[in-house]
Amino acid sequence: WERPDVRPFRQRLLVVANRLPVSAVRRGEESWSLEISAGGLVSALLGVKEFEARWIGWAGVNVPDEAGQRALTKALAEKIREAFYDSLQRCIPVFLDEDIVHQYYNGYCNNILWPLFHYLGLPQEDRLATTRSFQSQFAAYKKANQMFAAVVNEHYEEGDVVWCHDYHLMFLPKCLKEYNRKMKVGWFLHTPFPSSEIHRTLPSRSELLHAVLAADLVGFHTYDYARHFVSACTRILGLEGTPEGVEDQGRLTRVAAFPIGIDSERFIRALDVPQVQEHIRELKERFAGRKVMLGVDRLDMIKGIPQKILAFEKFLEENPSWHEKVVLLQIAVPTRTDVPEYQKLTSQVHEIVGRINGRFGTLTAVPIHHLDRSLDFHALCALYAVTDVALVTSLRDGMNLVSYEFVACQDAKKGVLILSEFAGAAQSLGAGAILVNPWNITEVAASIDQALNMSAEEREKRHQHNFVHVTNHTAQEWAETFVSELNDTVVEAQLRIRQ
Ligand code: G6P
Repeated sequence: WERPDVRPFRQRLLVVANRLPVSAVRRGEESWSLEISAGGLVSALLGVKEFEARWIGWAGVNVPDEAGQRALTKALAEKIREAFYDSLQRCIPVFLDEDIVHQYYNGYCNNILWPLFHYLGLPQEDRLATTRSFQSQFAAYKKANQMFAAVVNEHYEEGDVVWCHDYHLMFLPKCLKEYNRKMKVGWFLHTPFPSSEIHRTLPSRSELLHAVLAADLVGFHTYDYARHFVSACTRILGLEGTPEGVEDQGRLTRVAAFPIGIDSERFIRALDVPQVQEHIRELKERFAGRKVMLGVDRLDMIKGIPQKILAFEKFLEENPSWHEKVVLLQIAVPTRTDVPEYQKLTSQVHEIVGRINGRFGTLTAVPIHHLDRSLDFHALCALYAVTDVALVTSLRDGMNLVSYEFVACQDAKKGVLILSEFAGAAQSLGAGAILVNPWNITEVAASIDQALNMSAEEREKRHQHNFVHVTNHTAQEWAETFVSELNDTVVEAQLRIRQ
């Protein structure tokens, strides 16, 4: 007798994102080491379990030879079998050549769209050169999106839901619908969508909007980002905005907000793991007698790391009694290291940290511990758990899941979250956090003072608000809501056509 397979039906989901959840580094001709990728998108999707998912994306590495490509595809399959999350069936790599990566990823995505969507404007140095390279970078962007579409089409089966992610793949919905008009296509943006006045400065503004509108459902983290997108479509394209979305010649693209979350259980469970407990003991011993402040960010200009450190310096200047009683641990995960702006930022941060440690350090203690690397999951959970005050002071941020991860790990300590009003998370955790304008260093310094002196009752009340939110609005729920809305949208559209 064989036990019948009674697993519930799980919808097949093709997740398409520029980056796979594991990134590869070549160790030998056919050997690879694989690491979990950094960033909010991967953290969130790690929590999604309801679907039978395949993830299509770039492995972060250039693999020109076929033998290497075969070996990497196999290594990815094995890594997934180790199953760090239940439902991911396969990781399917998209191979991009060096020139495309340079022009599409370093250029159009990270030098143009990323800063623009975070209100940092278009590159301004040499306008003429930028305009010329803009054309070729946009061509590479479209070509890369077409390459992603070809891989999706190869793996697509009727009934699949195709979920495209982020600013790298704004052209993808259009490419996919050209392959198959009936494909169910959703697109979700993990960054802010800026005011239409910002978007309209982009030379390819209309082409990108039209390409996104080919999707059936378009999602954003917040209602404001969705509203900005609809305004861009009405003002720049002259289309009609409705409460449901954007209408173009009788066809509706549904537009809505789907605030992301994390797999909070994964963090809460980790706190009981003996290795994490051991880390917690070590950290408490290491920083005994000092309050611990924590920043965890990719080393990116949108994260406001220099501004945060300058605010901490101001706090030390104004509060000599806190010297040697407080320490700032700043974990700065290197990212996009081939883009010159990111290289400049690294040197800038090192310079400021060195100056402040020279100024306020003693022979036995320094005020800032700055690490240029990521921590493994268990070390990170331990750090979150021992923190008294977390500083999330992004200049702009789509959502910011570090703030969620911190809250999930704080049910014992009930530490304080200082949070930028320009992070999407301010809309969900604003009532529990101390909200700040990260550009106002005096205000951030004052909020550090407020956080370090906050009464236990007040901390408890604020933490409770945030903890309830973080544990009730999970990544799982986010994904289920988006996919079910996408299914409904397609069915409704079919009904409309039949009527
Ligand atoms: C943000 C983006 C993600 C991206 C991540 C890491 O969270 O929204 O799409 O994957 O940053 O950046 P990277 O360029 O290393 O993929």
